[in-house]
Amino acid sequence: MDMKFNRRNFIKTSAAAASLLPTFNILSQQVGATIGPKDDDVNVAMIGYGEEGAILADAAIKIPGVRFTAVCDIWDFRRKMAKGRLASLGHEVNVYEDYRELLDKEDKNIDCVIVATPDWMHAEHTCASLEAGKHVYCEKEMSNHLEKAREMVLGQRKTGKLLQIGHQRRSNPRYVHAIDNVIRKHNVLGRVTHAYGQWNRSVAPFVTVRDRLNIPTETLQKYGYENMEQFLNWRWFAKYGGGPMVDLGSHQIDLFFWAWDCVPISVTAVGGNDYFNREMNDNVMAIYEFKTKEGLINRAYYQVLTTSSRGGFYEQFMGENGSLTISEIAERGNAVQQEVRTGGSTKEEWNKFIDLGLMLPIRSAVKAAETSNVALDVRVTAEATGNPLPVDLLKPAHMPHLENFFAAVRKGTPLSCPVELAYESAVAVLAANRSVAAGKTIHFKPEDFIV
Ligand SMILES: NC(=O)c1ccc[n+]([C@@H]2O[C@H](COP(=O)([O-])OP(=O)(O)OC[C@H]3O[C@@H](n4cnc5c(N)ncnc54)[C@H](O)[C@@H]3O)[C@@H](O)[C@H]2O)c1
Repeated sequence: MDMKFNRRNFIKTSAAAASLLPTFNILSQQVGATIGPKDDDVNVAMIGYGEEGAILADAAIKIPGVRFTAVCDIWDFRRKMAKGRLASLGHEVNVYEDYRELLDKEDKNIDCVIVATPDWMHAEHTCASLEAGKHVYCEKEMSNHLEKAREMVLGQRKTGKLLQIGHQRRSNPRYVHAIDNVIRKHNVLGRVTHAYGQWNRSVAPFVTVRDRLNIPTETLQKYGYENMEQFLNWRWFAKYGGGPMVDLGSHQIDLFFWAWDCVPISVTAVGGNDYFNREMNDNVMAIYEFKTKEGLINRAYYQVLTTSSRGGFYEQFMGENGSLTISEIAERGNAVQQEVRTGGSTKEEWNKFIDLGLMLPIRSAVKAAETSNVALDVRVTAEATGNPLPVDLLKPAHMPHLENFFAAVRKGTPLSCPVELAYESAVAVLAANRSVAAGKTIHFKPEDFIV
């Protein structure tokens, strides 16, 4: 490694340069919202204004030149919410119950569609929007069925329109720095033989709403939902979603692909619907074996629990020279830890990574002890310390991914999660539930990841 490479040069030349400049982030958060329509606006429709749709709309609205013109949702309650919320931010939208009517009537008023419906409808909503000539940002998981995910890849190919899948960590400057710079470019961790990801949540009952908000049964059934319980808790039913494994694992398993730049050769998973007795597994533990382009075998362990929030959600990359812990919420993971071992890097060698701007100086437990009256046990604090990553995300978590999408629409810059890339991780994520059901290892062939 070129040790003359100093921090200033690194910041200038790094792909993550913009994200390292906090003033840029702060400025961009202040723009947008209440300014009226402009001729060069990118006009956007949203299909599915639920919990995630609202988060995406709030983030997208902060991006200069993005204008919402229409929203579709089969739930009157959410349509009213969308209309009110967007109007309060200066965006007057027409609302629709049926996406076909939206695409038909709003054809001239929309350039792009954001799809944030439950997973089972992604393919239908995405493909129809692509066919209508619109660019699409579709939430993850692409689908709960692989054939549907394939249809999305083919739909994108056929129409040539842009299709970004909502694995938003792919555009998050903290993850870009950690994976592209720390792990891949500068090899700070050495050979990363193992990775770990978890998303643990506490016990939660099924979502319910007041009776007056219920959708009439005939409307629900017209759109394929059995009843309000299934509609509100779609993730837990095989028809509509893939359970917590697919819902949460889709974000994190994708990172193993990114860090190792290869696809897995197998997954072995165990799990069950042991606590809630719901349709989908409430806990899954999956081991993926990856084969790198150099022919090396790496293993990743992924766990999702819905009966304990212990440890929350984060990902870890474990290498011979160091480990990196990261989470979408920086307080849960944001540090690189040196592997202190015989023959490993010296303190001076490790500190050169700080000079390069790859990490910040260690928040020393000793320093903390000096200013505290409480004696700290080094066996604990040695684990807790690490070199923090130097990149902050000072805007909503989904915003950089939406910015990346709209930059692609406007300027043709590359998407950070094009559909082919997302399809690869969809193959692996969906296979974990199959492995649980079959009680055996699922082996992948390289062609399984290609449409
Ligand atoms: N990227 C992330 O961090 C993230 C986080 C949460 C959810 N998601 C994804 O976002 C999507 C939505 O999840 P959610 O939590 O908002 O669910 P949700 O149930 O809160 O919202 C879904 C919305 O879609 C509407 N809908 C359902 N079927 C429809 C149809 N046929 N046509 C039009 N509208 C329809 C519902 O009425 C509801 O308002 C899922 O794919 C989920 O995996 C992504």
